[in-house]
Amino acid sequence: MPDLPVIDKTRLPLHIAIIMDGNGRWAKEKGENRLFGHYQGVQSVRDTVEGCAELGISYLTLYAFSTENWDRPEEEVSGLMALLAETIRKEVPTLNKNNIKLQTIGNISMLPEYAYKELLEAVELTRTNTGLTLIIALSYSSRWELVTAVQHIATDVKNGKIQPGDINQDTLRNYLNTSAFPDPELMIRTSGEYRISNFLLYQLAYAELYFTDTRWPDFRKADLYKAILNFQQRERRFGKTGEQIQQETATDAL
Ligand code: FPP
Repeated sequence: MPDLPVIDKTRLPLHIAIIMDGNGRWAKEKGENRLFGHYQGVQSVRDTVEGCAELGISYLTLYAFSTENWDRPEEEVSGLMALLAETIRKEVPTLNKNNIKLQTIGNISMLPEYAYKELLEAVELTRTNTGLTLIIALSYSSRWELVTAVQHIATDVKNGKIQPGDINQDTLRNYLNTSAFPDPELMIRTSGEYRISNFLLYQLAYAELYFTDTRWPDFRKADLYKAILNFQQRERRFGKTGEQIQQETATDAL
């Protein structure tokens, strides 16, 4: 596993997004029920958040619950909601101690009231922190986010606030849940699935994608370092040629 010193702190991804997958399979492999996997997954969340804060990453988005996850068995959904609310409540002092600001994206009005309140309280209590911004995607799906954005744009066009011809990429960006955050530069998915699963479809346009077979409950700081190191070895071209990028890098170094 790579050590912290080999990571180039001057070339960190500004924003890392993670699809935390494999809790259910991890638990089943151990002969336990799925909720056991989610409980173990919380330790991975802690370790990853700590790792990002120590490195100086600015934004970390964790996909904790998708719009589609509401269709899971009722026992798993209610167990997950209770776990999320309990974890968020317990972690607020640690978030504050480490200057971490909690934010959420998603249709959180669908959460049970106790979880909704817990979440809003934690967001408020960490509002003035200036270190890592930890964004929890809850009851989130990208298609839901895009449809909602289009509805709001249409309403504003109807009310004369904006003209259809003035709508550009920045307009759409400003109507997304993520308007306050830069796009992720690195997206990690655990547990050997090679999909994006309705996660930040617009925002991941130029993200580097990193997939690992490690199940989420086994994911630790060392796995995070490995993903960041892999990111740092890639050439990010944004549609340009490799030669253009190398020339730009050389000019920047002057
Ligand atoms: C995916 O594994 C994981 C989830 C749907 C839930 C993740 C939530 C946590 C780890 C709790 C996080 C808490 C905070 C505060 C962010 P899966 O159940 O889809 O696994 P499978 O693909 O093996 O079935």
